[in-house]
Amino acid sequence: MRNFTGKTGIRVKIARAVFAIINPIISRAFNIVLCATMFNIGRKRGGGLYSYDYIRASSLELIADEINNRKLDGCAAEVGVFQGDFAKNINIVFPDRKLFLFDTFEGFSDKDIKIEDENNFSESVKKDFSAANIEMTLKKMKYPQNCIIKKGYFPDTAQGIDEKFVFVNIDVDLYLPIYNGLKFFYPRLQKGGYIFVHDYNSTLFKGVKEAVKKYAKENDLSYFPLSDHPGTVVFMK
Ligand SMILES: C[S@@+](CC[C@H](N)C(=O)[O-])C[C@H]1O[C@@H](n2cnc3c(N)ncnc32)[C@H](O)[C@@H]1O
Repeated sequence: MRNFTGKTGIRVKIARAVFAIINPIISRAFNIVLCATMFNIGRKRGGGLYSYDYIRASSLELIADEINNRKLDGCAAEVGVFQGDFAKNINIVFPDRKLFLFDTFEGFSDKDIKIEDENNFSESVKKDFSAANIEMTLKKMKYPQNCIIKKGYFPDTAQGIDEKFVFVNIDVDLYLPIYNGLKFFYPRLQKGGYIFVHDYNSTLFKGVKEAVKKYAKENDLSYFPLSDHPGTVVFMK
């Protein structure tokens, strides 16, 4: 994040503080209006979600409903947790499932950044995720007892896991861990399960699209793009 000094710095700090206060209020109001206009859908919408990204969170909610109603057996996972803001939604919609949470909790790894630089995929080193925090993440969870923290470099941290999965959110921004995420989780996905890959349409992280396209081509798979910010794709088995 850019640092400002002097009067500009104070103004920027005030603007950021005001935004931090009004953003959740606007977001909540927006979601109440959206939910209130949904008729004849046979179920309650909301349930503590949607303070994040309406399209992604509501898609997750609908997908979870399909998985839970079909009583599919398996765990949930997120690769790229940061401070747990999307993970808390996964935790809410899957109250009876284990949730594996993978992150270095120290930001990007040099190994992954090297590939970004060599291929001009992103200026990844400039995005700082070093404020990732396990304690803060667990405090946000409604069912913290379901969470299994896997701290360290993915996919190394996935070694020895032989569970099946019904939902996985891959949100690691960079080409190599995205490709490895699909390689690890798609074969372990139950029939009827889903994988989200965030940032597919991001102009900041161009390696995401490359990784998704490569894995899909190698395995003859199709996927569905969401209109969330900045573009998730959904694989379904
Ligand atoms: C965009 S953030 C995740 C945001 C989070 N899903 C949310 O909704 O707030 C990306 C995270 O991926 C993690 N990450 C990137 N590459 C990784 C790797 N190879 N192994 C483990 N974690 C990684 C970073 O540490 C960072 O916390």
